[in-house]
Amino acid sequence: MSHSTSTTRAAGVAAAVAVLALAVPAAQADPSGPTLRSEAPRDLEIGSAVWGQNELLDHDRKAPTEFQRLLGAEFGSLTPENDMKWAEIHPEPDVYDFSGADAVVAFAKAHGQEVRGHTLLWHSQNPQWVTDAAATWTCAEARDVLEDHVRTVVGRYAGEIYEWDVVNEVMQDTWDAGGVRLRTEANPFLAACSDDPVGLIGDVFRWAHEADPEALLFMNDYNAEGVNAKTDAYYALAQELLADGAPLQGFGAQSHLSLQYGFDESMQANFERFADLGLKVAVTEADVRMPLGEDGEPTAEQIALQAERYDGLLQACLNVSACTSFTVWGFDDGRSWVPGVFDEGYATIMTEDFEKKPSYVALLDGLTDATPGTSPRTPPGLSS
Ligand code: G3I
Repeated sequence: MSHSTSTTRAAGVAAAVAVLALAVPAAQADPSGPTLRSEAPRDLEIGSAVWGQNELLDHDRKAPTEFQRLLGAEFGSLTPENDMKWAEIHPEPDVYDFSGADAVVAFAKAHGQEVRGHTLLWHSQNPQWVTDAAATWTCAEARDVLEDHVRTVVGRYAGEIYEWDVVNEVMQDTWDAGGVRLRTEANPFLAACSDDPVGLIGDVFRWAHEADPEALLFMNDYNAEGVNAKTDAYYALAQELLADGAPLQGFGAQSHLSLQYGFDESMQANFERFADLGLKVAVTEADVRMPLGEDGEPTAEQIALQAERYDGLLQACLNVSACTSFTVWGFDDGRSWVPGVFDEGYATIMTEDFEKKPSYVALLDGLTDATPGTSPRTPPGLSS
């Protein structure tokens, strides 16, 4: 894959942005023209999150919506935004609802796409029955519930998921109570097994691997892009799990960025150190949010900077041969999770009318420039 200094690329991106100061209206887009999917090097999947329950239940019964057309044309990988989370897929102790997840997998099959599974162990979006039961769980009871869930869900989609976010956000941040350490309070399963949380995490990977030996099994988190106290803790956790023989195979950086903060230039070095453990790496949930003006619109400078940030994320992935996938957390502003959580917006690569932003162009140019199958990094153990 080609690579260049971030300064050179930033200037290049800025120049491209200057030329495309106005977003490319969807109506002018040539449907047979290049897409993110068509320009991606063969060894990199470009993906998007999608909420199957909301967007895809009817995809095979009528003409595709513009959203569905773009989802199928631009991306080679899909991640169920919510459909495989406990609250949606396992709403009652003895009830599984696979409808949303099945719709994502069916759409992916119909469009020759891969699927990233998301997620099996998380402190958020658990159903009320889990929260209620966890209050009195012994570790053995928690393990039984978790094992049943993992084997049922992973087993159902065995052979159809190329990467699983097995554990999500299990590490606290420096600003959390107790600082950087495993979430043995917020996560109901880690709390029940707080005597040996790493042992439980290792078993979750073993159960998932037994249920689907083909899937690559990831740990996934936000604020995990660069080298920092949190990723140092993940690096140590990865070493402990691997030493214990757990089938950990990847590390995912969610990459939810904001223009309120700088870009962490140590992202490539962080990816490289996990790759040197023998793990794959991935950008799993990329978006770049920003505070907006009174009119709800970004400035030209913000639009240009957003394109540079998306390019920076892509370059960190392209420059590390172990980076298997680059996924945006939704591709249009109309479906973005951001405005519902932050006083920010404009986070994705297309407007709510599917007009392609300079950020889209930055990704397309970055993928087009990438040379399939090569990397500037010499795999560990080989002389440069
Ligand atoms: O399903 C219910 C629906 O029945 C109800 O009527 C509605 C009322 O608001 O709520 C629906 O639940 C929503 C849920 O998504 C659907 O599963 C919640 O409101 C909504 O807050 C929740 O937001 C999701 C968020 O995770 C929850 O933390 C976002 O859509 C989703 O994009 C976001 O994704 C996470 C990743 O999984 C992990 N990384 C961070 C990322 C952003 O938080």
